[in-house]
Amino acid sequence: MACGSWESWESWLKITAVMVLLSPPACCSNILVVPVDGSHWLNMRVLLEELHARGHNISVLRSSSSRYIAEEPSLYHCFTMSLNGKMGITEDQEMLSQFLLDSLEILRGGLTLTAFVRNTQIIRKMLWETHHKQREFIRLLFEDSALMEKLQGAGFALVLTDPFFPAGVMLAHHLQLPLVCHTRWLSFGDSHYLIAPSPTSYVPVVGSRYTANMSFLQRLANAMHYITTVKLGSAMIHPSYDELCHRFLGPGTDIETLTQHADLWLMKVDFVFEFPRPTVPNIIYIGGIQCRPARPLPPDLEEFARGSGEHGVVFMSLGSLVTQIPAELAETIAEAFAQLPQRVIWKYQGDRPANLGNNTLLVRWAPQNDILGDPRTRAFISHGGTNGIYEAIYHGVPVLGLPLIFDQYDNLVRLDSRGAALTLDVSRLDSRQLLEGLREVLSQPSYREAMARLSALHRDQPQTPLQRAAFWVEFVLRHGGAAHLRPAFFGLPWYAYYSLDVALCLGMVVASLTGLALLAIRRLYRALRRVKEKQS
Ligand SMILES: *[C@@H]1O[C@H](CO)[C@@H](O)[C@H](O)[C@H]1NC(C)=O
Ligand SMILES: *[C@@H]1O[C@H](CO)[C@@H](O)[C@H](O)[C@H]1NC(C)=O
Ligand SMILES: *[C@@H]1O[C@H](CO)[C@@H](O)[C@H](O)[C@H]1NC(C)=O
Repeated sequence: MACGSWESWESWLKITAVMVLLSPPACCSNILVVPVDGSHWLNMRVLLEELHARGHNISVLRSSSSRYIAEEPSLYHCFTMSLNGKMGITEDQEMLSQFLLDSLEILRGGLTLTAFVRNTQIIRKMLWETHHKQREFIRLLFEDSALMEKLQGAGFALVLTDPFFPAGVMLAHHLQLPLVCHTRWLSFGDSHYLIAPSPTSYVPVVGSRYTANMSFLQRLANAMHYITTVKLGSAMIHPSYDELCHRFLGPGTDIETLTQHADLWLMKVDFVFEFPRPTVPNIIYIGGIQCRPARPLPPDLEEFARGSGEHGVVFMSLGSLVTQIPAELAETIAEAFAQLPQRVIWKYQGDRPANLGNNTLLVRWAPQNDILGDPRTRAFISHGGTNGIYEAIYHGVPVLGLPLIFDQYDNLVRLDSRGAALTLDVSRLDSRQLLEGLREVLSQPSYREAMARLSALHRDQPQTPLQRAAFWVEFVLRHGGAAHLRPAFFGLPWYAYYSLDVALCLGMVVASLTGLALLAIRRLYRALRRVKEKQS
């Protein structure tokens, strides 16, 4: 009997051993997560739920001042750093509210030079304070030897981080672990700019408010945007972290190179929404990761929606970061809503406007995905945050945009250019404009049809973005990294990256050959003339 013989037993053992060594089980790995608070976290938590359901043991590094990142022992284990004060813009509601009010006030006063200077000052102050706190967090983390020892001994197989702040990137390097980034933004702009070619001729810089189709002047302005926000931004922000890299990770390290060396990028982008652009093999697109079929509404909302009859429901939310807008703006909005035949669900945590109509329900929290997925929902009034936009795309609900800050205007430009949204200028908004805008989105079928088309395109994928993200995290776990997907442009000097040295060399060869040819022609011409002169 062959199968009982020692040789076959031995070879079976060998094969098993090789198989086990080659593909360590992806299930039940220890994963260290270094998230960023706010809407970034709400999105990442969805992936953590999936990884948890697949049997992985998840640990989250958070600060004691976290706003949304709570202790959730049923989902993940926490390493909590105690920190004095809030970690800047993502946690500090007051700072954000003040920033928003200042920005709106400046916008409402008209776009003058003083307003521009003041706005720049506010943004600089906010960025400075936020990065200052982040550096303090990193310093405390690396100087906490007891915690570092715990992290080192915990047997992590992977670091999953949002690289908007670099603590996770630095930690992965220190612990020598594979690194997966869950991202759309770095602190100076679109994460693509760090790893993929981004020609300014057809990749509009966020902040420019352009589409991919730009005139000459727009391309000029886009290039200026690229230089001032992406290049100057990284040149201003990176050095302060490089100093921490030198101190804790050794000389010769810098935050840009460390980030570029991430094994994989889970990019919160879908090209139904973003304009198509060049990319690289270690970027996996997971835009819309949080979208899922709607669940039934809670009883109070269900009853309210049922009362809307044939007119349906309008849903308004300005996102998780914005809890309060100026009182007069809230009253403007309430006035417009009161004149609609639809019923309005308005997620708002500020004071109740005095003129709120009886067709409007103010709620402090709302199950956004379920409301957008309800067949009675006719329109979504949104600030243009990407989480809400992807949910609107997924469920095919047309959008009326009221962009406030950051990337929101640009996000709405992307929907606008596909005919799926109408964007209003908040700085000059009055109730008549809002009402007209709403009536247009509600009555023109083109908005709903454009959204339905985007929705059909977005849903037509071999796997959901969530399954894709989880697959690729496990892929990196199975293979201990994904370095083979990483393009080799790191460390190339800029002239080599753009092949300027090659162009110069080729140019010189062409110039020399042309020179030689001209010389030869001249000689030949003279020789011919001499022959002619002799003959005559
Ligand atoms: C999960 O991770 C935590 C934190 O690192 C650790 O204390 C715990 O023992 C781990 N559990 C398993 C089953 O590995
Ligand atoms: C780009 O914009 C110009 C002018 O607005 C228009 O004529 C042209 O068709 C557009 N091109 C594309 C590809 O959309
Ligand atoms: C809401 O207000 C309008 C006009 O003020 C009134 O006609 C209507 O009956 C009210 N509806 C309810 C349900 O109270």
